Amino acid sequence: MPAPPKDQRLIVVSSRAPYSVRGAPTELKAERAVGGLVAGLDPIMQERGGLWIAWGDTGGDRRGLRRVEVPIEAPRYALRLVHLTDKEVSGFYSGLSNNALWPLAHYFIGRCKFSTEEWETFLQVNQKIARAVLDEYRPGDVIWVHDYQLALVPHMIRTRRKRARILFFWHVPFPAREVFAVFPWRAELLLGLLDSNVIGFHTVEYARNFLQCVNKVLGLKVLRKKGTVRLEDRRVKVRAFPMGVDAEALAQLADSAEVKQHVRELRRQLRARHLALAVDRLDYTKGVLERLEAIEVFLEQNPAYHERFVFLQVMVPSRTRVGEYRRMKEDIDRSIGRINGRFSRSGWVPIHYYFRMLALPSLAAHYRAADVALVTPLRDGMNLVAKEYVACHPEERGVLVLSEFAGAVEEMSDALVVNPYNPQEVAKTLAAALEMPLPEKRRRMRRMRELVAAHDLRHWAQACLSSM
Ligand code: G6P
Repeated sequence: MPAPPKDQRLIVVSSRAPYSVRGAPTELKAERAVGGLVAGLDPIMQERGGLWIAWGDTGGDRRGLRRVEVPIEAPRYALRLVHLTDKEVSGFYSGLSNNALWPLAHYFIGRCKFSTEEWETFLQVNQKIARAVLDEYRPGDVIWVHDYQLALVPHMIRTRRKRARILFFWHVPFPAREVFAVFPWRAELLLGLLDSNVIGFHTVEYARNFLQCVNKVLGLKVLRKKGTVRLEDRRVKVRAFPMGVDAEALAQLADSAEVKQHVRELRRQLRARHLALAVDRLDYTKGVLERLEAIEVFLEQNPAYHERFVFLQVMVPSRTRVGEYRRMKEDIDRSIGRINGRFSRSGWVPIHYYFRMLALPSLAAHYRAADVALVTPLRDGMNLVAKEYVACHPEERGVLVLSEFAGAVEEMSDALVVNPYNPQEVAKTLAAALEMPLPEKRRRMRRMRELVAAHDLRHWAQACLSSM
């Protein structure tokens, strides 16, 4: 089936809204949200237009706001906001989504907290979002639901609209059956998803895990090679659609005069002949503490790099209302302070650290300035930072060090692949990356750039939508 024509309305549905809208009615301000989901979908919606339905986390002042055209400065699509009560936010978001499904999907069983009350709230909020979709739905629309927080929405729509066309994309890892089986409401979750026509994942491995869970938990017939689940009256397609980045726009930005100037300033300010960079949303899955341990080992083992090497950690604040995330920030602050206290010399501090989001041109300059990117999450659905870094290296000099537990590794075989739990290995690989001869850097970077350019964001969206 060809991709839905552009004039066919696309309804995107997600928990996190692309913008958090604040301010007085006459002076609305919208700040773009962080995370891979929004980073990928906002440009697509800006290009295609349509409607995005999401939780309106707008704060008390704007609770009356139901619909807004975004981006506010140059509207391209409509955003419908669904307001949640504090109790709903706590059970649905902080609770079931962030304290149960998130750690489960990322293999952190020990961090999972399962509460029946939170599950009930999760059901109610999925129902509330599904009602908003049904309220907006017109036959012919394509409904594209996103991520684990809304896993039950396809079922809730299907019970009311038998013929609706529903595509679901799961943005985080889908864990192996042995891990998923721990979830007390595993059957309900799978059945919620199976009312989609197509279910997409970032990697072949996640799609395979999902099919195995459907087979073992629900006892349904699955055709693994074809990627289908057979139900009584229909078939559900299960596919891998690796998400990409807007490679062309990033490459152009990275090559602009403004960014090049910023790169020169950065190098001067950091006083680094060798710069390694990491960019993460604040999250325990990103392996920041483990990475800092690896930096410490590297500094111990490589005195020749003292006063010449800088590691820059950019950390974007996230989920600050979840207690665990606040505590982790303190641990990271302490660890950086301790390592810097141990190695700094007059005029040289080995670890630099920003706790804020960078504007895109500044981010592109940091990527381009970095000799090495350390993308070492303990587990990650895809990790778009790896692809953004590659897209921002037109001169093909950078080296990507990539965790074997990031979804991106399925495509980026020219990265230096590491086990993020092993600081000795990461430190050794960082040294190898810094010492890598230029022709090898170029060879690897060129192949990765070709892939990132061919499998970009548009390619991803087109592949997802044309599977319908
Ligand atoms: C990840 C998830 C998204 C989520 C984002 C930010 O990328 O896959 O679904 O929106 O993190 O997290 P938040 O809790 O702020 O929505």
